[in-house]
Amino acid sequence: MKTQVAIIGGGPSGLLLSQLLHVRGIDTIVLEKHTRDYVLGRIRAGVLEHGFANLMREAQCGDRMDAEGEIHEGFFIARDNRKHRIDLSGPTNGNSVVVYGQTEVTRDLYEARDKMNGIVLHDVQTVELHDLTTTTPHVTFRQNGENLRIDCDFVVGADGFHGVSRKSIPEDVLTEYEKVFPFGWLGVLSHTKPASPELIYASSDRGFALCSMRSQILSRFYIQVPLTDSVDDWSDKAFWSELKRRLPDEVSETLVTGASIEKSIAPLRGYVAEPMRYGNLFLAGDAAHIFPPTGARGLNSAASDIHYLYQGLVDHYLSGDDGGLETYSERALARVWKAQRFSWMMTSMLHSFPDDTPYDRRLREVELDYLLSSANARAALAENYVGLPY
Ligand code: APR
Ligand code: PHB
Repeated sequence: MKTQVAIIGGGPSGLLLSQLLHVRGIDTIVLEKHTRDYVLGRIRAGVLEHGFANLMREAQCGDRMDAEGEIHEGFFIARDNRKHRIDLSGPTNGNSVVVYGQTEVTRDLYEARDKMNGIVLHDVQTVELHDLTTTTPHVTFRQNGENLRIDCDFVVGADGFHGVSRKSIPEDVLTEYEKVFPFGWLGVLSHTKPASPELIYASSDRGFALCSMRSQILSRFYIQVPLTDSVDDWSDKAFWSELKRRLPDEVSETLVTGASIEKSIAPLRGYVAEPMRYGNLFLAGDAAHIFPPTGARGLNSAASDIHYLYQGLVDHYLSGDDGGLETYSERALARVWKAQRFSWMMTSMLHSFPDDTPYDRRLREVELDYLLSSANARAALAENYVGLPY
């Protein structure tokens, strides 16, 4: 097979890039290790920056997001039995976020790819990348017992954290940065009404909790748990009871609970690999970085990578200008690191850390005091939450 851009990974990053390039007449083939049902079965975050929503529209698949997604112009931080609203729109010239699940984003992207006869090959095995430092790279893999090969101009590694692309960069070229937080999030999805019209990030003596949503009838909740806990340690009853104890009374008294339809524990960590380019291989999304989920930067940072890469590839193919590709890694990483800083700050401010000294605890308290008492501090939070400009 032959294509202009071979994209490894059919998650949101790979599909969005494929769709955007297609609209501009640039040919791609997407290789995905799993089935479509498997990819669509994963429950992930659900807060989209305005910039991401615009990319979905530009990719001609924003209609359902615009019809069903909810615009949120603020969220709450809860502590000491009280909710405090963080206004997003006032300090950001009317900016906001769209609450719409990543699973739905991915479903819309697959449907758009189908409609335009885009090639997405599923169930591919033993993907290998070759000749990445030449102008004629190629990709080999197996599908249905056959050995196949794609010749291309560029390879995009959008194959998530465990993918093959980052591992194809020689060790002496790549620098990895990592921070592992000493707790995880236990998440529950339930067919219940959201706890509040806007998200609540709650800091309490018992640990962090988050009330989020996918729609008015589907809610997503999280509580901070020790890394040693497993899902089996948490019955639905125990989960709801612990969640309520971490929320202000006014929220827990009216909280609608129900059977969990998904329950999982995710560790919290930050990770960045540099550079995001090696020859004609470009990394994007989780293949290059992971975010602790506090502040919903993961999917949004994947989208900003795709923005820079898409612009670079369009300039290359339509204007013969390689400036965007040359500066891709630098520009993408500059924004990724700002988002890492933000999610580290949100995580540090809102969670209980097992090794905290009394001094650390007081600093955490005063960090929140300062935020809630300073319009400037809240404006900085809002600016980061809605997404820094591309
Ligand atoms: N070959 C082909 N596909 C692969 C390979 C491989 N060797 N390894 C992994 N994949 C596929 C995975 O099955 C997955 O569907 O690559 C895809 C990567 O998708 P994601 O992990 O979702 O990563 P990405 O598309 O960058 O999405 C951004 O933002 O909110 C965060 O972590 C969240 O997934 C989210 C991410
Ligand atoms: C979610 O809805 O899953 C979610 C929302 C906001 C976050 C993290 C996760 O900061």
